[in-house]
Amino acid sequence: MRKTTLITGGAGYIGSHTALALINAGHHVLVLDNLCNSCRESIARLEQLTQTRVDFINGDIRDSILLDSIFSRYDIDAVVHFASLKSVEESVRKPLDYYANNVAGTLNLCRAMVRNDVFRLVFSSSATVYGEPVRTPIAEDFGTGKPVNPYGRTKLMIEELLTDLADSDPRWSIGLLRYFNPIGAHESGMIGEDPNGRPNNLLPCLTQVAIGRMPELTVYGCDYPTVDGTCVRDYIHVVDLAIGHLKALQVLRHNTGINFWNLGTGIGYSVLQIIHSFEDITGITIPYHFAPRRVGDIAKCWADPSKAGRELGWSAQRDLEQMIIDTWRWQSCNPQGYQSSFEIPALTALTAAK
Ligand code: NAD
Ligand code: WQD
Repeated sequence: MRKTTLITGGAGYIGSHTALALINAGHHVLVLDNLCNSCRESIARLEQLTQTRVDFINGDIRDSILLDSIFSRYDIDAVVHFASLKSVEESVRKPLDYYANNVAGTLNLCRAMVRNDVFRLVFSSSATVYGEPVRTPIAEDFGTGKPVNPYGRTKLMIEELLTDLADSDPRWSIGLLRYFNPIGAHESGMIGEDPNGRPNNLLPCLTQVAIGRMPELTVYGCDYPTVDGTCVRDYIHVVDLAIGHLKALQVLRHNTGINFWNLGTGIGYSVLQIIHSFEDITGITIPYHFAPRRVGDIAKCWADPSKAGRELGWSAQRDLEQMIIDTWRWQSCNPQGYQSSFEIPALTALTAAK
């Protein structure tokens, strides 16, 4: 059997880009996803892009029997764990769903890993674990703060759970990747972010205004202590983020214990700077209006990514212009996300990976 990397949540936005990066680097991957926030089409697009069959299981990380059958059928030597609910707004309305899916789901996954002697894990954490930072840029040694919503608290709880686990058994090699604000899409325009329902994040909202699916962009707050009064964030290209997972998997072959890495560019842009860059690059005017501050938003957040540079040999290579070009290519080629038609060649034309 071939060594296989299990990717939970691999049909989703960041997971699909990471699956692509791993396959292109010669990994054999198995995607496990219950499709609660994604669709089978992203896997079909991956197959077209890689010209290989991508092993996919429609299932849930909370299903122990399924996990044991996966670990017995495949020679899994590492897990990249994306599967999670991720809407801040929904987490406030449905906290039990978030704790059950994210925290209990991760617990279940880790138990299955222990039962099956798999101890290398990369986890999707978030800059949200820093809470309101004391200063910027944010370095890993600031320590975690107080996340301001249930979603963020699930990420912090999982970080603590995984730290305790790594401390309890020296066989574990765990990487906690703290993403800043992922945007962009693969340069092919074939895979990208396809939020269910009304989006919450800035770039999906902005591109949906540009494509005519939303009439106007709401800019939350114009009185923050920043360059132009709007919030500043560290936007990072999803392909750079995907490569960060590849590097982490490599380094975790030798680094045991718990390892924290920020994945960001180290550069902050305000909401207005993003809107104006998008307008300059695409030539499309974005109608927007200011609204009061959104509850829970912090004024400024950007990374010190130097630890990932030193320890992973990783740094973001794609600048804001590239992020906007690729975001827009994805959205304009796929105005209805994955429901838009894209020519997929017959699967028989693809080579089987196994
Ligand atoms: P996404 O929703 O596109 O991907 C998550 C995937 O997990 C989806 O395909 C969903 O169907 C699947 N999933 C959810 N619960 C599952 C379960 N119980 N069993 C199996 N599959 C399940 O989200 P994304 O933006 O790709 O985020 C990936 C990870 O990165 C998440 O853990 C998220 O919390 C984290 N993260 C995302 C961002 C961001 O802004 N996108 C920032 C920081 C961290
Ligand atoms: C960015 C800026 C908004 C939409 C969130 C989560 C975080 C992480 C990444 C997963 C803010 C402003 C937005 C809009 C706006 N997710 N904005 N109009 O809030 O930095 O981070 O996603 O882990 O946990 O909190 O990202 O894209 O929602 O917002 O003005 O329609 O854009 O107020 O200043 P955020 P975002």
